[in-house]
This record gives sequence, C-alpha cells and structure tokens, in this order.
Amino acid sequence: MDNNLLINSLGERRLKDVFRNDFELGVAVSPLMIAETPDLIARHFSTLTCENEMKPESLYDEHQRFDFSRADIIADYARERAMLLRGHTLVWHNQTPGWFFCDGQRRLEADELLARLRIHLETVLSRYRDITCCWDLVNEAISDNGPDILRESPWRAILGDRYLETIFRLAREIEPEMSFFYNDYNEVVPEKRARIIQMLRELKSAGVAPDGIGLQCHWNIYYPGRDAIRETIEDFAGLGMKIHITELDLSVYRSKEEVAVDGLSAELEELQAKRYAEIFGIFREYRELIDNVSLWGMTDHHSWLNNFPVRNRPDHPLLFKGDGVMKESGKRLLSLGE
Ligand code: GLA
Repeated sequence: MDNNLLINSLGERRLKDVFRNDFELGVAVSPLMIAETPDLIARHFSTLTCENEMKPESLYDEHQRFDFSRADIIADYARERAMLLRGHTLVWHNQTPGWFFCDGQRRLEADELLARLRIHLETVLSRYRDITCCWDLVNEAISDNGPDILRESPWRAILGDRYLETIFRLAREIEPEMSFFYNDYNEVVPEKRARIIQMLRELKSAGVAPDGIGLQCHWNIYYPGRDAIRETIEDFAGLGMKIHITELDLSVYRSKEEVAVDGLSAELEELQAKRYAEIFGIFREYRELIDNVSLWGMTDHHSWLNNFPVRNRPDHPLLFKGDGVMKESGKRLLSLGE
C-alpha cells in the first residue's frame, strides 16, 4: 500500500487526535499486521494490545520454556513508536496450555499452581514493565448463564471459589504499581452484568478491587441499542473503577445463521459508519469514566470474525479494509473531530 497517497487523501487527520481530549485510542495487533501497515497503526492509534502473543499459550515453547519472540516483535514496535501496551492476558481458561495445570498426568495442588503463576507473573510483568499501561489480569471468569457466578475453569477447580481474590492479591504483591483489569464480554446482557458486578463488589470488600474493568464490546451493526450501552457504563461507573473498552468490533452479521454477504455493500458500510459514530458519541459522553477505547484489529482482512462464529464467512467489522484503506466507518469517526 502507498502510505503517502493515503495520508494525502485524508489530510493530516489522525483518529487518535479526534479523541485526544476523551480517551486513548488503541488497537489489537499481530506481528503480521505490524509488518503490513506499520505506519498506519502508529499514525491512528496510541495504544496497542497483542491480539494473541501475550496469552499464556503464546509465551512458551513446546518444552514449556518461555519464548518471547512473537510478543517482543510487538513490544519492540511499541518502544520504537513510543506507544503503550494494554497487556492481555494473564489468567484465562482459554489459550493457556494444559500442562500449566499439571505435573505430568497429575493435576497440580493449589500451592503448586500459585508458584507457577508467580513465576509467570514475575517474568512477564517485569519484561514489559517499561511499555505497559495496564494488564488484563483475569479474562472471562464469569459464567454466561448462571446460576453460578463463576464459570468452570481449571483455575477455579484447583484454587477454589475465591481464586480471583487470591490472584489479584498475588499480582498486586508482585507489581504494586501496575493497573490490573478484569476483562469480560456481554456486559450489556443485564444478568451477566449483574454477576460481574457482584464479583467485583466481593473483590472490593476483600480489599483487592481491580483497578479497572474491561468491556470487550464484540458487537454488531444492529445490537446493542444506545440505552443498553449507557446503562452498562453507568452500572459499572458505580464501582469507582476505570473503564476500558478493550475489544471493540462491529460485525455486519446479526447472528451465526445469517448467510455471508457478498462484499460490503454501500448500504451496509453506511449503516456501520453510523453505528461507529453513534457508539463513539456515547463513549465520549462518558469520557470521565472511560480511559481507553481499543479496536479489536486493524484491517477487516485479519479480523477473527472471518472465522467466528462461522468459519470462512467474511466479515467487515473494523475501520480499515484489507489493503489498509480507511472505510466509511473510519472516515465518519475522523469527521467527529471537525
Ligand atoms: C476474547 C479474548 C480475546 C480474543 C477474542 C477473539 O474476547 O479476550 O483475546 O481471543 O476473544 O479474538
């Protein structure tokens, strides 16, 4: 892609400048995205999240030794461009190798798992300390359907029902200056939101409140409505924690049943642009509460939604096309700065 052409056609405007007085604007990237659009990323965004490279399964080789090679590509890019990272993610039931919870065939005892987690936290947190503004310490611990608050996970099974408290306490002890977040999805669903808030209140009473709550916001161009978004933000505001929008994307599909669209029609692109503008308008109203809004990917071509919830169904959820050209969605956000 010819970056000069692109910059000329858009003038000097940069997305991160539009929201400079509101919140940091971030994006999730992979080493491939950095290789493809290095200037575009730094031009429009001020923070980075590793899409996969700092998850436990990506940080070890097949001999269970640390392997930072892929995460370091992103960390070094952030250092060169003076960008900060939202660290993502340390404790999760997904994308964590099975061996992490075992010694051979034997499942670890609680103290053994905590010793392993301590090494993981000490090593990873210190390696990226110079460029991380916060970490998603725990990802997706709350159940989707209840009645239990917590979902089943190896962490819970080994450490017990108060494991979140144990983990937040351990992380604070290891890295007292770091901001630690609890990150989850579907907070716009009132029942799930209530469960998350109950858990956060319990952590607060135990004296280990997270510094912030991450709302993933994998939404679509039809859902959720404005009122649901406002209610969600206001409910979390009551906890007195920072709010980050951590993984925003707007699928062009309502559901997994919908058949693949044939490219992005002008009509859909316009609908998406309106939705992005509306949603960012709401985030702006709450700029006192929201410190960071991060998109989950740079270009449509590399979005995880091309394979989720349906494999090989092309989606168009982001602000840039596969070739790095800005879509209507991005242009509409730029126009919010005029
Ligand atoms: C969740 C995780 C992210 C990512 C997305 C899908 O939201 O928090 O790390 O895996 O799913 O890409």
